[in-house]
Formats: sequence, C-alpha cells, structure tokens
Amino acid sequence: MNKPLRIALTKGRLEKDTVGLLEKIGYDCTAVREKGRKLILPVPDGNLEVVLAKANDVITYVEHGVCDIGVVGKDTIMEMQGKFFELADLGFGKCRFALAVKKGSKFYGGYNIKTIATKYPNITRNYFESKGMDVEIVKIEGSVELAPLLELSDGIVDIVETGTTLKENGLEVIEDIVPISARLIVNMVSMKLRQQEIERFVALVEENI
Ligand code: PRP
Repeated sequence: MNKPLRIALTKGRLEKDTVGLLEKIGYDCTAVREKGRKLILPVPDGNLEVVLAKANDVITYVEHGVCDIGVVGKDTIMEMQGKFFELADLGFGKCRFALAVKKGSKFYGGYNIKTIATKYPNITRNYFESKGMDVEIVKIEGSVELAPLLELSDGIVDIVETGTTLKENGLEVIEDIVPISARLIVNMVSMKLRQQEIERFVALVEENI
C-alpha cells in the first residue's frame, strides 16, 4: 500500500465538522476523536493520516508539501495566500468578515485617518484600498472587540458568526465584507504525484457535503 495521504485539519471551530465529514464518508476516526495529546493520528481504513494544527500552520504544512491536503477557513486563505489548489467549499464553518464599530458611533466622515484593529491586516488593507480609503491598521492577536472599547481603534475588521460577541460588547456591524467557509486545499506537487488518490478523496468529500 502507498504511504497514507496526510491531511491537516484546523483545530478548534472546524474540527468537529471536519471529523463529522470524514465519518460521513465512512472513515473510522476513533483515533482522532480519542486523540489525547497526540498530534498525528491514523485513519487506517482510509489510508489517511490526520494532523491537527492551527489554521495558519495548516496552510504552511500544505504549501510545503509535508501535508498533501488541508481543511482551513477561507479567512486564513485570504489572509495568508500562498501556493496551493483550493478544490472544494465544504459548506461548514460559515461566517463572514465585517467592519464593526461601537454602536451608534459615526465611522465615515471627518478628516482624521481612521484606525482599524484586526487579526487580519492583509484583508483589512485590501478592503480599504479597494475603497480608496487610507486607514491605520493595528494588529491584535486576541479579542479584537476590546480595541474600540479601549478606544485604541475606531473600528474592527473581524469574523462574525452569530454576532453574539459584538452584541455583548456594544458593537455593531456597519459593513459586510465577504462570506467565509471551510475549504479543502491541496499541495500542488501532491496533486500531480498522487492525482488518482487525491481525486478519489475529493470526489468522496464532494459526495458527502
Ligand atoms: C471569532 C471572532 C469573534 C467571534 C465571533 O473569535 O474573532 O471574536 O469569533 O463569533 P460570534 O459572532 O459567533 O460571536 P474566535 O472565537 O474564533 O476566537 P479567536 O479569538 O481565537 O479567533
């Protein structure tokens, strides 16, 4: 048998749905479900090996070819870019990028340059550049919602799923930027060298989403 196809899954929000999808296809994900602290997990009947990683690292591992396939949010793909094939929209992990401000505050108008806090500086820069608007971007690692509350920024560009975090912190969306969902990505060399196996896997995924 060939060496297993290695698939990098994003830990956290997307993990449950991705494992659910693999199980729907018929793979035995017991080792993934009972992982403990293990990071590389076999899915023996599918000749797959699952790697659990942070979203940015999923892209890095797939881009470098140490994982053949990855499951990662479109948000991370847009922010990091990189060279790989994006083969399928998995239809879960649905949310959107939005521009939000303190409820009732006026964002547009005036002559001062606005400050935007975000975990996604590239997406934020592209968005405001496309509007022809000069903004100052402050990169935040944790809860971006804090920045306008602490008056560090005039607004935030962030992921909105249910809207609860914004609501509970007195913020509101003033513009939707782009919808997001989980995507299946494939390393470019793997796509050539292991084309049949990958096409078979992608077909199974597409039948089950
Ligand atoms: C994201 C995002 C918001 C929150 C939005 O953070 O940065 O804070 O989810 O979700 P909601 O609209 O359903 O309230 P996440 O929980 O992924 O944590 P993170 O700070 O680790 O990115």
